[in-house]
Amino acid sequence: MKILSAVGARPNFMKVAPFIWAIEKLNRKNGRKIQHVLVHTGQHYDLRMSEAFFKVLNIPDPDINLEIGSGSHAEQLGYTMIEFEKVLLEQKPDWVVVLGDVNATLACSIIAKKLNIKVCHIEAGLRSGDMTMPEEINRLITDRLSDLLLTPDRLSSENLRKEGTSEEKIHFVGNIMIDTLEANREGSANLQLEKIIKDNLIDGSGNPKDIPTDLGFAVMTLHRPSNVDSEEIFVPLVKFLLNEVTKNLPLIWTIHPRARKQLIRFGLWEKVINNKRLIPLEPIGYQEMLRLNMGARIMMTDSGGLQEECCVLGTPCLTLRWNTERPVTLRENGGVNVLVGNSIDRIRKEYLYTLSINHQPSRPELWDGHTADRIVGKIIEMEYLDEKSLK
Ligand code: UD1
Repeated sequence: MKILSAVGARPNFMKVAPFIWAIEKLNRKNGRKIQHVLVHTGQHYDLRMSEAFFKVLNIPDPDINLEIGSGSHAEQLGYTMIEFEKVLLEQKPDWVVVLGDVNATLACSIIAKKLNIKVCHIEAGLRSGDMTMPEEINRLITDRLSDLLLTPDRLSSENLRKEGTSEEKIHFVGNIMIDTLEANREGSANLQLEKIIKDNLIDGSGNPKDIPTDLGFAVMTLHRPSNVDSEEIFVPLVKFLLNEVTKNLPLIWTIHPRARKQLIRFGLWEKVINNKRLIPLEPIGYQEMLRLNMGARIMMTDSGGLQEECCVLGTPCLTLRWNTERPVTLRENGGVNVLVGNSIDRIRKEYLYTLSINHQPSRPELWDGHTADRIVGKIIEMEYLDEKSLK
């Protein structure tokens, strides 16, 4: 059997790593039964957004890189489809595996289906209900096209049922991101906070800054267009960070390229990098982020993956969005996560409350570090059933 996995952007890399490890493990055990080809669309291309993750997560170099780079949605999708079609016609895999909800996920699943190749979606069934999010559109279409929908939690399986997906396609396997977290927990715990900060501090930001100690700092990541692209939303948010959050705790902010561009555009860059209590970092590696998360008093983010990682590590998490496709991580469902949107009053209230609560790890069902084995098992099972039905 030949499986071709397609990845494009940073959150894909953490998800594909355990899948590849699981295939390699099985091939070592049974002789090389599964041929695996890794395709990188090149949506994320900076060393810090891409290559660094391949190294630390032990992902082999991509067999093929489409090098599509940045661009509008139409450009990213269009260029990916044009190049990916050529790859599929040459490689002729039995399965295309796509992960998560980025533009690469959508573009590659469409072309695979057009060529009658079976599609497996890892992290299927997530729904925010927010059609202004590009990721929600990617999720809906990818799931509609996929032959095998592998969900991280039962709520996601239920979403698919409600949409009329046939039962035999839906399989609850757990969260593959947690495989990566567990494999890197020890390595991350051993990293020195001081070294992470010194190695990644943004140039020109008043080096050296005071290094905070564990449970004595907040961490923030922000990259969603809905938060950083609009001046009316982003400017008051940054002022709140500079004038209020940093009064209580030093704030470590790992600044995504999209947020950086907008800070410069709105004239806030100098203020951010010169604030004495704000530690601005370049995008950091997987283990470094896990280490910051372990030591953080509080996480403020609009990322999807961090909501999940905070849940398992127990770090109180304020999600700067009005909705989440990951409700299993919310406080009302036993997790650590609370939705605060982008209303400063709401963020302030929850921020102050959260300072008074402790870390409380929780582990949703099947977030056990063995999801990738179950995924490979499901693909083999489906392939076997297909072969049988052809005989
Ligand atoms: C993408 C995903 C989002 C994911 C996020 C993680 C989609 C629709 N969005 O959003 O779901 O949470 O990745 O980071 O696929 N840029 C660089 N260097 C890079 C990559 C991007 O400077 O290596 C710049 C681009 O020029 C662009 C901006 O960052 O201006 C945004 O990149 P893009 O890939 O369009 O989307 P993200 O916001 O990163």
